[in-house]
Amino acid sequence: MAMTGVCTFAGEREDRIARAVAAMESSLIATRRDFHMHPELSNREERTARVIAKRLGELGFDTVRTGVSRHGVVALLKGAKPGPVVAIRADMDALPIEETLDVPYKSLNKGVKHACGHDVHMTVALGVAELLSRMRAELAGSVKFIFQPAEEGPPEGEDSGAERMIREGALDNPRVSAMFALHTAPDLAAGKIGYVSGAMLASSDTFSIRVAGKRVHAAWPHQGIDPIVAAAEIVGALQTIASRRIDPVEPVVLTIGSIQGGNRSNIIADEVRMEGTLRTHSEAVRERAIALVKEIAGGVAASPGASAEVRWSPRSNPVTRNNTALVEAALPAWRAILGDANVVLVPPVMGAEDFAYFQRAIPGAMFWLGVGNAAKGITSALHTPAYDADESSLAVGVQAMTAAVLHYLDRKP
Ligand code: NI
Repeated sequence: MAMTGVCTFAGEREDRIARAVAAMESSLIATRRDFHMHPELSNREERTARVIAKRLGELGFDTVRTGVSRHGVVALLKGAKPGPVVAIRADMDALPIEETLDVPYKSLNKGVKHACGHDVHMTVALGVAELLSRMRAELAGSVKFIFQPAEEGPPEGEDSGAERMIREGALDNPRVSAMFALHTAPDLAAGKIGYVSGAMLASSDTFSIRVAGKRVHAAWPHQGIDPIVAAAEIVGALQTIASRRIDPVEPVVLTIGSIQGGNRSNIIADEVRMEGTLRTHSEAVRERAIALVKEIAGGVAASPGASAEVRWSPRSNPVTRNNTALVEAALPAWRAILGDANVVLVPPVMGAEDFAYFQRAIPGAMFWLGVGNAAKGITSALHTPAYDADESSLAVGVQAMTAAVLHYLDRKP
């Protein structure tokens, strides 16, 4: 097994962690099922926060701060030896999706489901908290646990999520110097983790375009301005941002997901409204594409005499970009505890995560936790009614996260 010179991750400790995690497995499953049965929407994670704070209190944490960015919980575990502060982030919210799984731990909250695996993320973080609380004597530094609400986005008119947690001091007192998070991956088999160095997830921006024309009888089109024809041309022309205007080696997704206009077959509409999302893997490409949407929509609309007004939602996510040094440093620890074959390099994807805000503030790395199990029929994608996680992944998550944290503290950066 390849070990770098600075790695002090001894085989004895890996065995000890593996045994401790194996002994915790049934309680991890019970914790995950409890969260899964009681999902709460973004900014409504009241019970979830209570369960977390109670558990951390029982584990003897030095501080447990609740009410951070509404229902967020920030807790600190001080090691016996001096050292840096490393943080683990777990998101708490569920989605407005009706569960179709027929399982003993089916959601009891009708129309709400942990369909993005945040139940697993919280369970793993609490498992790591339990394990490390028993290993204080050998901890060279402190570990901060950040339970974050509203990762999926707060309700209209409300504020929360990673950005607000940072504003409310989640990374301060004491200051965090590095941060880890994981996310469930149903397309990766349980037992494995996936890592990406650099851009892992995309920036995400939501926009709306209002195309204004002039209403007239459908049989006298020359006397009006047809916003539907203009809108159709805008939809096509916007695809030239990715295909003609941005360097083709840079990923760009621009999707118009909604379009509405007009109300009768024989009337030319007065306006069309559409909504879309923009995804990129680079801040420079993101800025360029945002400018191009306005330029193209305005230019194409102007040609038949229509006008286009583009608006960008203030709710957006930067690129989730993993700190290369953190990932490279964690790799030997992950391979040592999970085995080389279970630590796989995976390509980046165009989904988005507000963990990106933490990564803008401090070096951070997120990795994928495989939760798929084709033999058991656990293959449904994130954010779908049949999404599930193979529960053998819980122990793997605790092992991988613990290894990353201990290895970081041992290196004394
Ligand atoms: Ni998620």
